[in-house]
Parts: sequence; structure tokens; C-alpha cells
Amino acid sequence: MRKKVIAGNWKMNNDLYGTINLISDLKKELNEKNVEADVIICPPFTSLETASTLLKDSTIKLGAQNMYLEESGAFTGEVSVSMLKSVGCEYVILGHSERRTIFSEGDQVINKKIKTAIKFGLKPIFCIGETLEEREKGITFKVVETQVQNGLKDLSESDLSNLIIAYEPVWAIGTGRNATPQQAQEVHQFIRGLISKLYSPNFARQLVIQYGGSVKADNAKELLSQPDIDGALVGGACLNADSFAKIINASLR
Ligand code: PGA
Repeated sequence: MRKKVIAGNWKMNNDLYGTINLISDLKKELNEKNVEADVIICPPFTSLETASTLLKDSTIKLGAQNMYLEESGAFTGEVSVSMLKSVGCEYVILGHSERRTIFSEGDQVINKKIKTAIKFGLKPIFCIGETLEEREKGITFKVVETQVQNGLKDLSESDLSNLIIAYEPVWAIGTGRNATPQQAQEVHQFIRGLISKLYSPNFARQLVIQYGGSVKADNAKELLSQPDIDGALVGGACLNADSFAKIINASLR
């Protein structure tokens, strides 16, 4: 049985004060003893160290939203994997559609980042998903397949033991228009089948595949009750402790 994993991607929101407030609200809101799901928050870089300290007595885990592909060196403005590890990160979101489109990150860059993260024991949340145009052209499966094949190129099943895949249709991100549970389930099932072919049925069965894209308190239950949807990557709705807690609670059986 796969455990549900609910991750909050804060994006470029919350300075240090906002971070302290939101984590404090979240700890009050969540009755952590009763939470069977894994809960991850991904604040901006500048808040990670403080967040890590504030989460010491909590079951909430910490992730970053991005990292650079090289291990160290002359890369002005970038943040490395060991820097993330040193401030207490356990996860890193890689290949988010905003990175792919706004910052022109392609599959090859994402593949290198996944390799670097794995080498240092950081768990990747690897995002994939089609644009509206691609969906309307009927090439969703093809797009997702290419992203998976290129993003995971040259990585073995044992390399990927801590991998999470997040299926996030680009047209559903930040638009208020979520994929229907059936649309999402169909792609999740396809991804699991693909992983089964590329690796093994056993590995595919235990792989966590999250859905992301306008997940809210009122649509979470239906999405998360689909057989191949193992959690959510939440943007907008994770910035409020009450709505994020409602989504986490919706993941419980
Ligand atoms: P959203 O963002 O929940 O605001 O649609 C999801 C994401 O970008 O991960």
C-alpha cells in the first residue's frame, strides 16, 4: 500500500516573517499524530534554514523548489545540492513547468539535476505534464512518455528508490481549472504502466505519483481517491494553513 504524500510548493511567496507565521499556523492546524500521510513543505531558499529549525519537533518534512545541476563552483546566483542538504532539506522539486517554461529548462538539464540530487541523497519530486495545446492535439501520453524517458535517462531502479513523480498538466497549474479525477487517473495509470515497462512491475507498484494543478480543499478528496493518485503537489492552496490542512485530511482514508 502506497502512503499518500502531500507537498506544498510555496513558489516565490513568503519572506522570513511569512514563513514563521505559516509554519506556526500549520503546526496548530495539523493534528500530526493523526496524519498518516507524508507532508512536505517547499519554501523559498531564503526560508529553508529557519523552516528546518521550526520543523525540528514536527513530522512535516522539508523540500526545496529547485537546485543547480553542478555540485559547486562559479555559478553566480545558483544554489547547490549540498547547500540544500546542509540546511535540512530532504526533497527537491525538479522540472516544474514554471522552470521548464519561464527558465527554459529542458529534459537534459532536468535529467542532470535528478542525477545530482540522487548522488547526494536528496529525494527528487520530478514534475511532468502536457500543455493545453498538447492535450488538444491528443498527444498527452506521448509528451509525458518523452518527459519520463528523457528525465530519467541512464538511471536505474535502485537509483530511483526515493523518486516521486508529480503529474501536473500545465493548463491546470494556477488556473483554478483542475484535471477531472478521471483525466488525472488516466494519465497516472499510463505513467505507472510506462514505469512498469521501463523498470519493473514491482517498482511501478510502489512508486508515488502525485497530482498537481489547482488542487483545493474541495476537489482533493475525489482526486486523491483515484487508485493511481498517491498524493498532491499543491501551489496556491498551500499558502493558507487551513486549506492545506484540509487537503492533507482529504488524503486520509
Ligand atoms: P497550483 O500549483 O496548485 O497553484 O495550481 C501547483 C504547482 O505548481 O505545483
